[in-house]
Amino acid sequence: MHPMLNIAVKAARRAGNLIQRASDKIDLLTITKKSHADFVSEVDHVAERTIIQTLLEAYPDHSILAEESGTQGESEYLWIIDPLDGTTNFLHGLPQFAVSIALQHKGIVTQAVVYGPSSNELYTATRGRGAFLNDKRLRVTRQVKLSDSLIGTGFPYTRFEHLDAYMDILKELMQKTAGLRRPGSAALDLAWTAAGRYDGFFETGLKPWDIAAGCLLITESGGMVSDLCGNDTFLENGHICAGNPDIHAQLLKVIAPHLTAGLKGK
Ligand code: IPD
Ligand code: CA
Ligand code: CA
Repeated sequence: MHPMLNIAVKAARRAGNLIQRASDKIDLLTITKKSHADFVSEVDHVAERTIIQTLLEAYPDHSILAEESGTQGESEYLWIIDPLDGTTNFLHGLPQFAVSIALQHKGIVTQAVVYGPSSNELYTATRGRGAFLNDKRLRVTRQVKLSDSLIGTGFPYTRFEHLDAYMDILKELMQKTAGLRRPGSAALDLAWTAAGRYDGFFETGLKPWDIAAGCLLITESGGMVSDLCGNDTFLENGHICAGNPDIHAQLLKVIAPHLTAGLKGK
């Protein structure tokens, strides 16, 4: 395992164990509301501090972009961290949540970890060396028919400027696929696409910490990731379409007629 991935795994497991222990006593947690329907608990903060401490202990000069504490440092190595992806699930006792850590070097994601503590599933990837679930090498599905595909997504729930376009896309995909799922953690949705559990995935309005790790998992599993126009600006605009190469292309075709200026945005 690449030494930087090894440190990321150590950080993700530490945070994941902490989150898992806290999931038994949700009633005792201090929870605050960041904006409409956007909650954060003390667990998000403690997990984030644990991750940053573990990474900076090994690489004190590296930079950080973390959901709860923002940016620090000015290195060409940037760790992108979501300490708890799926906070809403976590706060309701649903076991679908994960720790997501990616390393960007000179703007390119090179290492990725997504760790689901409740299932003890560890997804890892190093650029050019494949993606793994625990010790098993991952491949995206070989499905070529959209009508037989299972597609993951995430509903807009804090901001609604793309809601109409999103609903139009959803309506069409409901009729053109074998099924749609909204489990509630974008990082795990992407990991599941890499693992061949979904044939494709799309969502609008995500942040770099939700998707940076999951996207490398997909490309290292033979899949494709883009924004909703098929461009590679998804980390910047947060609109994302992913899947095996056939289903990715077919999803983009369904999405294209519904694109607004905002969804085409860079
Ligand atoms: C959220 C989850 C969810 C997605 C949201 C994200 P959080 O992350 O990934 O699946 O639909 O857009 O914000 O807030 O739980 O870290
Ligand atoms: Ca998130
Ligand atoms: Ca989060």
